[in-house]
Amino acid sequence: MKGTVQFYAALVLLALAFSWSTAYDPAPLQDFCVDLNDTSSAVFVNGKFCKDPKLVKAEDFFFPGLNKPGNTSNREGSAVTPVNVMQIGGLNTLGISLARIDFAPYGLNPPHTHPRATEILVVLEGSLHVGFVTSNPDNRLFTKVLNVGDVFVFPIGLIHFQFNRGNTPAVAISGLSSQNPGVITIANAVFGSNPPISTDVLSKAFQIDANLVKYLQSQF
Ligand SMILES: *[C@@H]1O[C@H](CO)[C@@H](O)[C@H](O)[C@H]1NC(C)=O
Ligand SMILES: *[C@@H]1O[C@H](CO)[C@@H](O)[C@H](O)[C@H]1NC(C)=O
Repeated sequence: MKGTVQFYAALVLLALAFSWSTAYDPAPLQDFCVDLNDTSSAVFVNGKFCKDPKLVKAEDFFFPGLNKPGNTSNREGSAVTPVNVMQIGGLNTLGISLARIDFAPYGLNPPHTHPRATEILVVLEGSLHVGFVTSNPDNRLFTKVLNVGDVFVFPIGLIHFQFNRGNTPAVAISGLSSQNPGVITIANAVFGSNPPISTDVLSKAFQIDANLVKYLQSQF
């Protein structure tokens, strides 16, 4: 009996160790693993396939044009230009990426989370009101007004936002601790899922009536 308990305790510990070690982008076991971008294969890996190192070129580590502003003519008044493993195959397995974020006057990068990355943001132009909220039960808001040159950190997984509080455009650059950080925009995921989440679920979760749920769903 005691032996069985120890065996299961060891299994649980192993499982925990395994989940910890795979909770982040895998550490590279070679110099690089350039994304092969092969979507025709039926085989899936946790990340991307690696290109034959002999075929790798400098272009696999290169992305031009981050000086160009994104198009902020949209309802939020913001545009994110990602530079992750989808744009630079050479970032595969390296656990790092970049994004440029443009804001129209009073533009918003709406509340969202990156399930796989911590973000560190620097303001290059304008002034941003930024913040993130901690997990339950505290849901504490950490917020700050950032000016040119100011840097702010959004810890992995936490809901955060950036709002241009000025009547001139703003620009920020973010570094992210994953080659594939992922984005979950809260309003889009909750009210714009495909197919939609049931009205009963959303009206109870948000304590609002069904018509308001339908209105919000029509916005996303
Ligand atoms: C920006 O986006 C808007 C809305 O989609 C579009 O009408 C406009 O042509 C775009 N501007 C540029 C410069 O691409
Ligand atoms: C990978 O494939 C997608 C979809 O075909 C394409 O948009 C993207 O530019 C490709 N990325 C690289 C690094 O080749």
